[in-house]
Amino acid sequence: MTIKKLQKNLVQWYLENKRPLPWRESRDPYFIWISEVMLQQTTVQAVIPFFLRFKQRFPTIGSLAQAPLADVLEMWAGLGYYSRARNLHKAAQEIVRLKAFPHRYQDLLPLPGFGDYTSRAVASIAFGEPVGVVDGNVIRVLSRLYGQGFQFWKQDDKKMLQQRSDELCQNADAATVNQALMELGATICTPQSPACTLCPWSAFCKARQQGLTTTLPLKKPKKNLRYIAIEMHLHFKKNQIALVENHNLPFLKKTLMPPLKITQLQKKPKQYQFAHSITHYKIFVTTKKIATRPTHKNLQWYPVHQITKINPTSLLLKALKAESLLPQS
Ligand code: ADE
Repeated sequence: MTIKKLQKNLVQWYLENKRPLPWRESRDPYFIWISEVMLQQTTVQAVIPFFLRFKQRFPTIGSLAQAPLADVLEMWAGLGYYSRARNLHKAAQEIVRLKAFPHRYQDLLPLPGFGDYTSRAVASIAFGEPVGVVDGNVIRVLSRLYGQGFQFWKQDDKKMLQQRSDELCQNADAATVNQALMELGATICTPQSPACTLCPWSAFCKARQQGLTTTLPLKKPKKNLRYIAIEMHLHFKKNQIALVENHNLPFLKKTLMPPLKITQLQKKPKQYQFAHSITHYKIFVTTKKIATRPTHKNLQWYPVHQITKINPTSLLLKALKAESLLPQS
């Protein structure tokens, strides 16, 4: 198989089969960027309504840069991983200061929230720079195509995948190649029962030839589950609740939370009000309404009815619902 042939079949397939997604209607780097950030950790179908709403509320990068952070977080509510929204806001302000959206992957990388994937996706999709992307879809497609058990969680193998992906973008329309690779992974070369008969690369696919489609890609070894108990101290004053920026939990950093008592556990506790999972942390929550005045430094009071705006993390929302302070939904 030659790279040329792979590119030709892939691009032709994509042009005939791509889904009409709202961020594919233009090559405006701002919208490409927003969509790529939303698509990390979230499926295309789930992202569409969030993207449309975000676009309507912040139609230009200038409007995003000028908006209060609380408004950006509110538009992000439900997507999770709120550091993405905070970084989006910061990077928008930096790009506005730069006066132009950087075109090149290397110039995007220093911006807040622009990791390897996002920088490459924006540089290639919006500006045509011939740099390949490596995301979960691409890892699956390339592991199968080359019949190789890439240990993508290790530096060296990730580099090899990056080289394979970069190579596919050379002397081609990188915007199309990258989106086509991801689209192939999302719609044909799926994790379970891939639709190989419809695949533009079926004739070249080593995994298919060797009966390895179910073994490849390799699975990243799971991190051991960690158990954490948190006691949330709910202090109220009229209809206001006391919140403080979290710096003590290993997740939800900088997110406003009630004062917490945190205990690392070896196993699931006998008593708790509800459980919540964030990545490999299993969190067991109890809430406590506390009548005495909080002594915490840096604590601020927020109206309870505004919580969904200020702190949309589902961990806090669940706690307030458990205390019937917010309607069940
Ligand atoms: N997943 C993330 N970005 C994507 C894109 N541009 N096309 C298809 N799937 C994607």
